[in-house]
Amino acid sequence: MVAITTFLSLLAAASTAAAQSQNATLRYMPFGDSITEIICWRSKLWNKLQTTEWSSVDFVGSGKTENNCRDTKYDRDNEGHSGFLAINIANQKQLVGWLQRNPADVITMHLGTNDIVQQNKNVNDIIAAFTTLVQQMRDHNPRMKIVVAQIIPLGLGNFNTKVQQLNAAIPTWAAQQNKTESPIWVVDQYTGFSGSGDNRDGVHPNDAGDTKMMNKWYPAIIKAFEAAKADKTAEL
Ligand SMILES: *[C@@H]1O[C@H](CO)[C@@H](O)[C@H](O)[C@H]1NC(C)=O
Ligand SMILES: *[C@@H]1O[C@H](CO)[C@@H](O)[C@H](O)[C@H]1NC(C)=O
Repeated sequence: MVAITTFLSLLAAASTAAAQSQNATLRYMPFGDSITEIICWRSKLWNKLQTTEWSSVDFVGSGKTENNCRDTKYDRDNEGHSGFLAINIANQKQLVGWLQRNPADVITMHLGTNDIVQQNKNVNDIIAAFTTLVQQMRDHNPRMKIVVAQIIPLGLGNFNTKVQQLNAAIPTWAAQQNKTESPIWVVDQYTGFSGSGDNRDGVHPNDAGDTKMMNKWYPAIIKAFEAAKADKTAEL
């Protein structure tokens, strides 16, 4: 009985994943903390995409915060959660519910700032949370295309040594986690970003910082869209 139940739930999970990936609309979830929520790089990204073949990509997520981007048109849907730690999101399985409510094919993740700033967490523990989050993404969609940031520096406090340690650990970790059907692309959001000059408050990008972040994300996001589109084309 236990075996049959397990088998049936595996079948159900497989068909849910298939149904989710069969949706012809490409769905992109911007996922992270306040540096994904109360910023304007999402507005800049959406506007840039409107001039490309990717104008119909649907941004998804439960959040719709207006960030004074002076942009009434863009798709605000996102899963940026101000103040949240990667470690807590992973341990409390919050992303699992967010993805159930808003399925996605492509996800960007910029996380770790609050783990360092609020609670001085160990880099190893933050990386372990990233592993859990990637597993949760793939449990939801085995073909999830994943873009992970090496995070931006801060313009306050003495946090950037640890930020650099986290960022240094990300490429090796991502290569170990990489999968053909669910690639991870690492985007270096740190290099060339000034914690003081490109943030409005030492933490969140100003207009110049939003433009830098969008431009850094952009090539990796396009690669992720292309890979997700290839999956959907193969299924049709
Ligand atoms: C496909 O995704 C779009 C955009 O997220 C959504 O509006 C639509 O309801 C989905 N369709 C199906 C059949 O799941
Ligand atoms: C993961 O694999 C893809 C190719 O599928 C590659 O483009 C990407 O750079 C790899 N990521 C890492 C972190 O090695």
